[in-house]
Amino acid sequence: MLPPPGAGAILPSMPIHDLPLVLRQLRHVSSQQFVLELEGPEIAAECSPGQFVMTTVGGDGDPLLRRPMAIYRVLRDENGDATGFSMLVEVVGRGTAMLQQRQPGDVLNVLGPLGTSFRIPEPGTPAAEHLLVMGGVGSAPFPLLAEDLLRQGHSVRAFVGARTADLLLCVDDFKELGVPVEVSTDDGTRGHHGFVTGILEPYLMGREEGPAVLYACGPLPMMHAVHAVATAAGLPLQVSFEAPMACGLGACLSCVIKLRDGDGWSYRRVCQEGPVFDSREVVWE
Ligand SMILES: Cc1cc2nc3c(=O)[nH]c(=O)nc-3n(C[C@H](O)[C@H](O)[C@H](O)COP(=O)(O)OP(=O)(O)OC[C@H]3O[C@@H](n4cnc5c(N)ncnc54)[C@H](O)[C@@H]3O)c2cc1C
Ligand code: FES
Repeated sequence: MLPPPGAGAILPSMPIHDLPLVLRQLRHVSSQQFVLELEGPEIAAECSPGQFVMTTVGGDGDPLLRRPMAIYRVLRDENGDATGFSMLVEVVGRGTAMLQQRQPGDVLNVLGPLGTSFRIPEPGTPAAEHLLVMGGVGSAPFPLLAEDLLRQGHSVRAFVGARTADLLLCVDDFKELGVPVEVSTDDGTRGHHGFVTGILEPYLMGREEGPAVLYACGPLPMMHAVHAVATAAGLPLQVSFEAPMACGLGACLSCVIKLRDGDGWSYRRVCQEGPVFDSREVVWE
């Protein structure tokens, strides 16, 4: 059975940790994008694809507010035990610029794992095709999702978009996992010249009938466009939102989006009821 419609999977009361974590490594993947590897077996062992952490960015409590970041990869030792996790970050403002300046050995205070995860089929359910559609730094949660789906024997395909070739993310991760990957760039510097829906739509039109699920994360207009494509194809889509967040714990309401509710709508907190939602429940405006 495919995942039922509904929001992302709310995980059974997993503990949330608030821990000082040592930065193992900072690796640049482009001039504006970098990977941070953190010690942290507690969070690494308990996180699921789509979940996120709230992390400090400076060393002295400034800025006060932590920044939400998706869990990118789980780091494992030679026995396969989780020892830490990484985050894939794009510099967009002061906080992410400060993160980029951190050094190995620095300590970040990290709260997590937080939020709902992508809802994936129960183990043992018949294999289906899982199509991962991403734009820019919205690619971050998808390698971990691909790993889980592959482990359960599902077929996975990735569609990766970015403004320009230098900013394409996770293409090598997918290749290493053996996941077929197609790319698009807004400026045509690599792959399809145009938006990621320009590679998704022809693929959906050409594929054979059969169960499929779509997942998307990226800028809002991109997720809205993927929702339109999924709706036209009659396929379910789970979307992961990157709303601005102050607390990450459901208290401040800075992260709300509108979800359908009966004949109307109501607000839902991306940090608690999300970040993953069924695209059919979202009020796209
Ligand atoms: C659940 C979740 C997961 C995320 N995962 C990642 C990730 O894996 N990698 C990554 O690089 N970023 C991720 N983000 C976005 C990241 O949190 C913001 O880019 C970051 O907080 C910006 O901080 P700043 O101080 O650099 O920018 P600010 O100075 O706070 O803002 C700079 C600009 O970015 C905009 N902005 C700020 N926060 C957000 C946001 N959350 N979404 C969209 N625009 C925003 C502001 O409006 C402003 O235009 C995630 C956000 C959420 C909610
Ligand atoms: S970030 Fe405070 S309620 Fe969601």
